[in-house]
Amino acid sequence: MTRVPEINGERLLGRLDAFARIGATAAGGVNRQAFSVEDRGARRLLAELALERGFTVFQDGIANLFVRREGRDAALPPLMIGSHLDSQPTGGRFDGALGTLCAFEALEALEDAQAATRMPVEVVAWANEEGSRFAPGVMGSMAFTGADVTAWASIVGADGASLATELEATIAALPEASLRPTGMPLSAYIELHIEQGPALEKELTPIGVVTAVQGTRWLEVSITGAAGHAGTTGLAYRRDPMVAAVAAMHRLQTTIMPPDTSARLTVGRISAQPGSINAIPQSVTFTVDLRHPRPERLDAIEAEVHRVCAAEAEVQHCSATIRRSFDMPGAAFSPDMIKIVEEAANSLQLPHKQMISGAFHDALFIARVAPAAMIFVPCRDGLSHNEAEYVEPEHTIAGARVLLRASIAAASPR
Ligand code: GLV
Ligand code: MN
Ligand code: MN
Repeated sequence: MTRVPEINGERLLGRLDAFARIGATAAGGVNRQAFSVEDRGARRLLAELALERGFTVFQDGIANLFVRREGRDAALPPLMIGSHLDSQPTGGRFDGALGTLCAFEALEALEDAQAATRMPVEVVAWANEEGSRFAPGVMGSMAFTGADVTAWASIVGADGASLATELEATIAALPEASLRPTGMPLSAYIELHIEQGPALEKELTPIGVVTAVQGTRWLEVSITGAAGHAGTTGLAYRRDPMVAAVAAMHRLQTTIMPPDTSARLTVGRISAQPGSINAIPQSVTFTVDLRHPRPERLDAIEAEVHRVCAAEAEVQHCSATIRRSFDMPGAAFSPDMIKIVEEAANSLQLPHKQMISGAFHDALFIARVAPAAMIFVPCRDGLSHNEAEYVEPEHTIAGARVLLRASIAAASPR
């Protein structure tokens, strides 16, 4: 007789600790950036745990990692559940790992109970979700859904490493995972993730049912002036791109977000060339991360970034160029899948609320090729992309239970 599949909370929390040790930082976070030695270590651990349980392990050409449990009908496309294992340089232990390990726990719970699902169920750890080492982010799900990846061959990482070399080494480090083509039909996709914002915690709601993800654009601004001697070049002779960049950033911080509370503008990386303490830089480059739920506002804000950078560059007799390195339109999730998640939370008597995701996720791309949904759980102080990121064990377990119930429903539709 089969038992009702149940999440083993202790096993799940132990797993989260074990993965948090891979790339652990002194401040309690993780540095497990995409395709690094640490990322390979986390992939290896997941593959080993999977093989021990008798699941099959696959990877594809972009190093997405899949753990498959067969269903009654092997010919049906699988239900896929999961998230990512790579992290920000000073990342938290839950961003991505929580969703991947809750998904793996759900798969183990099915196996513990010897519960048969109609469709195969696959856990996925998408490759390079973060994009902080090798931009763009969500590379794994983009490639999986058919994005043109030819330009990626020449990508060089923030640390100077070659994406092509690191990707090849990452795949080679896991020979147990047989290679399969990148991309395949899916019956459905569910991703659990920490909210990465404060709403659920503030409203004492353990489960967020995500209805949509807002759009993201990444820009790379380069302002070029003239290198010069720091000690001898008087104000009238300077063409200082740093002054222009600082003025542009300051103006953008005061004109975009204060009047539009839905807008997000972040400058997360800046560099000066040649980067010498006693030289006026030749050029300054900085990144701009833009988010907005409304595409027309993203267009307007991007145009404003162009205007402001050009104007401030001109004041300093410099020039500005802007390259769009990433454009991810927002997406709405499938009403049927949203209903499945809500019914799962209801059946567990867990309060829940519908919400829009401020962060992007692999689910955004997968939603284009399969019915998709996301489950959010609260994180302390809404903190994420921060080593202090924290999720209460009870919220981890509640999220995993909702994921398991929703997965059972989605993998064995009535
Ligand atoms: C994902 O990590 C994001 O930046 O939204
Ligand atoms: Mn994430
Ligand atoms: Mn992240």
